[in-house]
Amino acid sequence: MSEPRTPLVAGNWKMHKTIAETKAFVADLRARELPAGVDAVLCPPFTALCAARDALAGSPIGLGAQNMSWAESGPFTGEISPLMLEELDVEWVVLGHSERRALFGELDVRVNEKVRCALVHGMTPIVAVGETAEEHERGLARDKVYAQISAAFEGVATEDVARCVVAYEPIWAIGTGHADTPESADAIMGVIRACVPGLEHVRVLYGGSVKPDNIAAFVAQPNIDGALVGGASLEPASFAALLEGARRGAYA
Ligand code: PGA
Repeated sequence: MSEPRTPLVAGNWKMHKTIAETKAFVADLRARELPAGVDAVLCPPFTALCAARDALAGSPIGLGAQNMSWAESGPFTGEISPLMLEELDVEWVVLGHSERRALFGELDVRVNEKVRCALVHGMTPIVAVGETAEEHERGLARDKVYAQISAAFEGVATEDVARCVVAYEPIWAIGTGHADTPESADAIMGVIRACVPGLEHVRVLYGGSVKPDNIAAFVAQPNIDGALVGGASLEPASFAALLEGARRGAYA
């Protein structure tokens, strides 16, 4: 038997929250009693990382970035390097989010380079994969996810793969209010775990319209270890309720 996996809830704020709003969020969250036995991570925009780091000091809540360059420095206008994130004590980084892939042309090969780079710099990649609505309807979800996972971890040593987190986020479920069913998501997660050696025991998160009232049902599934949450992570009360829901789902 492997060790039970601690549930993880990561808030992906996307392009929301100024520095002032970030400070207010963290102060509010820290004033709440948060459940034990659930790992929490906040992923603010780059501009608010420094403020978030300072506001989170001494708390168990982790700090993540939403993206990162594959290069340490160079002529990459608008990019943020792993060295810059390391300096801000960023420990987690979302890589290959579907919005980056679809809107900013991020290719599998780049996601792979970013995963390797994050690992070299001691960060935990949260590697996001998922199928489009059309692929879903055509029954191609498994193939798509398998291909994205294989590409993302190409050439990564098994012990490094085992240090990562994967987020399965069906694109049709993101921000739509129409989450996948826990059973269907769990089945895809099973595919993910079997795809690359090292992924058997990593934490796999579900993402796509996760709310305080549905997170427990996802986390209760055998292959689902938490959630990557956009909209419902933006209010402290809601984020705290997500953590509580994850606890209920994992330990019920
Ligand atoms: P959502 O976004 O929770 O707003 O659906 C999830 C994500 O994109 O990570």
